[in-house]
Amino acid sequence: MTILKASHLKKYYGRDESLVKALDDVSLSVEDGQFVAIVGTSGSGKSTLLNMLGGLDVPASGAVQVENESMEKMTEEQLTVFRRRRIGFIFQNYNLIPYLTAYENIVLPVRLDGKEEDGDFLKEIVRFLELDGKLANYPSHLSGGQQQRVAIARALVSKPAIILADVKWSMVLIVYCVYSVQKKRKKGTLYTNRA
Ligand SMILES: Nc1ncnc2c1ncn2[C@@H]1O[C@H](COP(=O)(O)OP(=O)(O)OP(=O)(O)O)[C@@H](O)[C@H]1O
Ligand SMILES: [Mg+2]
Repeated sequence: MTILKASHLKKYYGRDESLVKALDDVSLSVEDGQFVAIVGTSGSGKSTLLNMLGGLDVPASGAVQVENESMEKMTEEQLTVFRRRRIGFIFQNYNLIPYLTAYENIVLPVRLDGKEEDGDFLKEIVRFLELDGKLANYPSHLSGGQQQRVAIARALVSKPAIILADVKWSMVLIVYCVYSVQKKRKKGTLYTNRA
């Protein structure tokens, strides 16, 4: 089954001399259980692409479908809920909320949905990401790597259809491990790295 399908995405910034074709007719699809890497030099459009795939930004033209549902027809509210339930996003700069503990950060997307997290699954993720004993810490009291792993846990806990990870090359191994957790659940993972 196709989890994600993007067709003919375009995004240009600026114009005339300063025109940047960040995305110029990009199409790709991710199948169930697939691990896909998008590799490119700095400024080549990886974050722009992931933002479009994750519904965080809108392409000038083209379409994105996640589990056969098109995002472009959704209202802002529908899109927010859709993103929270179907897409796990790992940001280049983690995007943790500083006044929430590691635990509160991790479960936030589930709680915003008015739901309870799957406790056993959360325990499994926390053990896997070596965050035991760190859940009560605020982000400022975590190491850089621990912060990134909290961001990974947050992306996983809602059991999304796909994980989009905008991470550096040095994080590839850990993202691959995330993929193996996802794979048990037979869903897609897609990440970009920076050269
Ligand atoms: N809001 C914007 N306005 C103008 N240009 C932009 C904007 N956002 C991105 N760009 C340009 O679009 C291009 C792609 O940027 P993007 O952030 O997608 O690159 P990247 O591949 O993620 O790079 P990196 O590996 O450094 O994270 C760059 O040339 C960048 O300068
Ligand atoms: Mg980037």
